[in-house]
Amino acid sequence: MEKKIAFITAAANGIGRATAEKFAECGCHVLMVDIADDPLRRLNECLKQKLASAEVFVCDVTRPDDVADLFAEISETYGKIDYAVNAVGGSVPGGEKPLGDLSFDEWQAELALNINSTFLCMSHEIRMMKAGGGGCIVNVSSIAGLGGSGSNAAYTAGKHAVVGLTKQAAIECGPFDIRVNAICPGAVRTPMLDVSFGGDPNFLTALAQTNVLERVADPREVAEPIYWLCSDTSSFMTGSIVTVDGGTTAIAVNAASNRK
Ligand SMILES: NC(=O)c1ccc[n+]([C@@H]2O[C@H](COP(=O)([O-])OP(=O)(O)OC[C@H]3O[C@@H](n4cnc5c(N)ncnc54)[C@H](O)[C@@H]3O)[C@@H](O)[C@H]2O)c1
Repeated sequence: MEKKIAFITAAANGIGRATAEKFAECGCHVLMVDIADDPLRRLNECLKQKLASAEVFVCDVTRPDDVADLFAEISETYGKIDYAVNAVGGSVPGGEKPLGDLSFDEWQAELALNINSTFLCMSHEIRMMKAGGGGCIVNVSSIAGLGGSGSNAAYTAGKHAVVGLTKQAAIECGPFDIRVNAICPGAVRTPMLDVSFGGDPNFLTALAQTNVLERVADPREVAEPIYWLCSDTSSFMTGSIVTVDGGTTAIAVNAASNRK
């Protein structure tokens, strides 16, 4: 049987990497995209040793021309993609300042990373999936796409935009048999999180207390529901915004009275 083609961004590390490994384990041919060349190639070697089927593409997915070239190559080589996971996102240096201090350049850079990247990839994914007769897209938002936080306005706005774009795309793409969903992780132990806590174990302990399971997630715990959202077992799900947050948002509405 012909292998399903899975396109995954941010594949070199963290959630994207765990997702690439999951799709490969499940028999897909995985197109792994990242800006970081070395870790991406190391992952590819690892997967090859496990006889998985994958290919690497080094690309900055915030750049329209680079993304167009990437999809032109994929289209020529494979002619279709079945699944797409748009996981690029995060914070840029200086992007976590409070409003009033956040510069326009920092604002724009953080939005580019979180929403432009998603828009650019989705535009090509949707064109290819329409031509191929269907597919599934999962965008990686965050619980920051559902509410605000201390001082991360651009990240919050960017991740809310990912949620809005997901719903809009689901509406537009339903008639073409393309399902589009988003996943909103809470705290996940990835290189991104390690950078934000700067090695301070107290930060990690405090973060673990923001959810009811009292721990930080392993990236594989996010990769599993991403895979499920692409699989036929979620065939009636589209436009869904799925939290994978250990219950963080379940307690958020009345957080003060829930504190121990
Ligand atoms: N880690 C968390 O706690 C957490 C929580 C909620 C949401 N998220 C979201 O999950 C996604 C993945 O986060 P992560 O924690 O795995 O991050 P990570 O930093 O571990 O990995 C991100 C990967 O994206 C790549 N990348 C960065 N900019 C790129 C670009 N312009 N083009 C191509 N690749 C690029 C990096 O090289 C890196 O390999 C992000 O969208 C993030 O906002 C993470």
